[in-house]
Amino acid sequence: MVVREIRPGVHSVGAIDWDRRLFDELIPLPDGTSYNSYLIRSSEKTALIDTVDPTKEHELIDNLKKLDVNNIDYVIANHAEQDHSGAIPKILELYPNAKVLTNPKCKEMLKDLLLIPDARFREVNDGEAISLGDRTLEFIYAPWVHWPETMFTYLREDKILFTCDFLGSHLATSHLFATDEAVAYEAAKRYYAEIMMPFRTAIKKNLEKIKDIDIEIIATSHGPIYNKPEFILDAYRDWVSDDVKNEVVIPYVSMHGSTKKMVDYFVDALIGRGLTVKPFNLTRTDVGELAMALVDAATLVVASPTVLIGPHPSVVYATYLANALRPKLRFASVIGSYGWGGKMLEQITGALTNLRVEILDPVVVRGFPKEEDFKALDRLADKILDKHRTLNLGKF
Ligand code: FEO
Repeated sequence: MVVREIRPGVHSVGAIDWDRRLFDELIPLPDGTSYNSYLIRSSEKTALIDTVDPTKEHELIDNLKKLDVNNIDYVIANHAEQDHSGAIPKILELYPNAKVLTNPKCKEMLKDLLLIPDARFREVNDGEAISLGDRTLEFIYAPWVHWPETMFTYLREDKILFTCDFLGSHLATSHLFATDEAVAYEAAKRYYAEIMMPFRTAIKKNLEKIKDIDIEIIATSHGPIYNKPEFILDAYRDWVSDDVKNEVVIPYVSMHGSTKKMVDYFVDALIGRGLTVKPFNLTRTDVGELAMALVDAATLVVASPTVLIGPHPSVVYATYLANALRPKLRFASVIGSYGWGGKMLEQITGALTNLRVEILDPVVVRGFPKEEDFKALDRLADKILDKHRTLNLGKF
């Protein structure tokens, strides 16, 4: 990535990863990502905020060379995950005076993950400020906005909040700032859904913690940065709120058409009742899209055939994922079919232990659905409509 000046003396020196398509060997990255790192040169000290994924450390080093950086005093580690910390050992090797400034938890993780010696650290406290000369860095602990050790760094004079993963997006773009808000919103929502949603309660607390800070720029460590902070803060306030939308998410698999027939009928039944429906064929869906749909939905209906005695393995995966992401769903149900028996229903509902949902009457049928089964689907659609109406989601 080219070096870009954010403010006089504050440069973006990280790397864009245009080609990356999978993160943590799990999360699809349809739009690539970036590992943002920031250099702050002040009258007395030079600080580097986070580094880059080890696969891109040569780009960070080249960028520092382009800026003739001969000395770094502080490397600020806001987060220990290797896509931001992985180049710290190389930076410490190239800049022997550099100390890693971070909180005690992050320090221990960096020692474990990257074998950085204890002597290269200086611990910082929550709320502590250190002077770089004519600029000041302030550290704000923000646990669980991705890992337990995460923190933010605030550059006081420039009013820039460096938030690492928090508020970021997996989006490779040539724009330094989030200029196209529709694109930025979509990417940030996907990122929230995949990475941050399980930490909704912690995020609420951390949003509260930073609410009185005067912020002009939010500089994340993935994706474009924000010179209109309220754009992303408002989006997060909406996503982490307890409010749900009049939406039903239906992840499904069908092997011989019985479950598909039920899903098709049920989707039409819900649409006919004025509900928004988002079906996902799990054999071809991008799980990121499913995760995004779960951010706001009031209801999840899992649809599966029976394989041996349980749900289809793709349904097991989607159910596990939905449970792990802890969306703010209120209701759940199961529809599907079986040939001769099994425990598909119990295994799906039993896997939703993290969700505080009311389970609505499932419709699980033997073989191809018959007239009485379609009536049962109509009753389930009526029940979902009634339940949504109790949530005061507006007129529908
Ligand atoms: Fe971008 Fe949690 O690392």
